[in-house]
Amino acid sequence: MNLKDRTVVITGAGGGIGAAMARQFASKGANVVLSDIRAENVEKVAHDVRGLGVQAHVVLGDIAKEADAEALMAAAVKQTGRIDVAVLNAGILRDGLLVRVDKETGKVKGKLSLEQWQSVIDVNLTGVFLTGREAAVQMIETGSKGAIITIASVSMHGNPGQSNYSAAKAGVASMTRLWAQELSRYRIRVAGIAPGFIRTDMVMKDMKPEALAKWEAMIPIGRLGEAQEIADSAVFIAENDLVNGVILEISGGVKV
Ligand SMILES: NC(=O)c1ccc[n+]([C@@H]2O[C@H](COP(=O)([O-])OP(=O)(O)OC[C@H]3O[C@@H](n4cnc5c(N)ncnc54)[C@H](O)[C@@H]3O)[C@@H](O)[C@H]2O)c1
Repeated sequence: MNLKDRTVVITGAGGGIGAAMARQFASKGANVVLSDIRAENVEKVAHDVRGLGVQAHVVLGDIAKEADAEALMAAAVKQTGRIDVAVLNAGILRDGLLVRVDKETGKVKGKLSLEQWQSVIDVNLTGVFLTGREAAVQMIETGSKGAIITIASVSMHGNPGQSNYSAAKAGVASMTRLWAQELSRYRIRVAGIAPGFIRTDMVMKDMKPEALAKWEAMIPIGRLGEAQEIADSAVFIAENDLVNGVILEISGGVKV
C-alpha cells in the first residue's frame, strides 16, 4: 500500500509508541486520526504532525467502551472519507504476582486483584476487539481494502507477574490470526507486532537504574528498543501487502 493521502487511525496515540507511529505514518504522507483517553499528549502530537503537511484529527475516547470505539471509527470516515489502516495500539499495565507469600510465615499475603485483572482485560483485550471490529465495519462499508495492525507483546508467551497482561496479549495475537482469515474475503489484511521492552513511559515510569540494567542484560542486543523501531515496523506492515496473518516479534531477540 502506498500511504500517501491514506487515512491511518491510531489508538493510544498520546503514548510513546503511538506518537512515534503518528509521526512515521505522517512522514509517508498519510493523514492520521489520533485517539487517546487523555487529551494533553495527543493534542501535542497532532499539532506536530500537522507541521508535516498532513491532516491530523483528534478523537478522544476509551477503547474499552463500545460507544467510544464505534464513534472513533465512524468519525475517522466522516472526517477523511476512509480508513486504510487502523493501528490498535492503546494498552495499559497493572502488574502483580498471582499470589504473594510471606517468606517467613509461609502465609499468603497478597493476591492479584480482580480489579487489576479486569482493568487490563477490558482495555488490552476487549478494547482491541471493539476497535478492531469497528475498523472492519467501516472498511467493509466504505470498500476499503485496508490493513488492521494489532500491538501484542512478547509477554503473550507468558511473563511472570503479568497474568492479566500476558493473557490479554495472547488473546490479541489469536484474534490477529483469525481476523486475517475472516476478513480476507473483503481483502482486509490483519497483522500484529509483539514488541519486546521499549523505552516509553509504560516501562520507564518508576524504573530504578539497577532494574534497568537487569532488563538490558536480558535482551540479546543489550539495550531496550525505541518507539521509532516499532513505528518503522508498523509502516512496514502497512506498506507490504504480503504481510498478513502473522505477529512480528520486534524485540532484539528477547525471550520471555
Ligand atoms: N513499551 C513497551 O515495552 C511495550 C512492550 C510490548 C508491548 N507494548 C504495547 O505497546 C502499546 C503502546 O505502549 P506504550 O509503551 O506506548 O505505552 P504508553 O503508556 O506510553 O502509551 C499508551 C497510551 O494508551 C492510552 N490509553 C490507555 N488506556 C486507554 C484507553 N482505555 N483508551 C484509549 N487510550 C488509552 C494512554 O493514555 C497512553 O497515551 C501498548 O499496547 C503496550 O501494551 C509496549
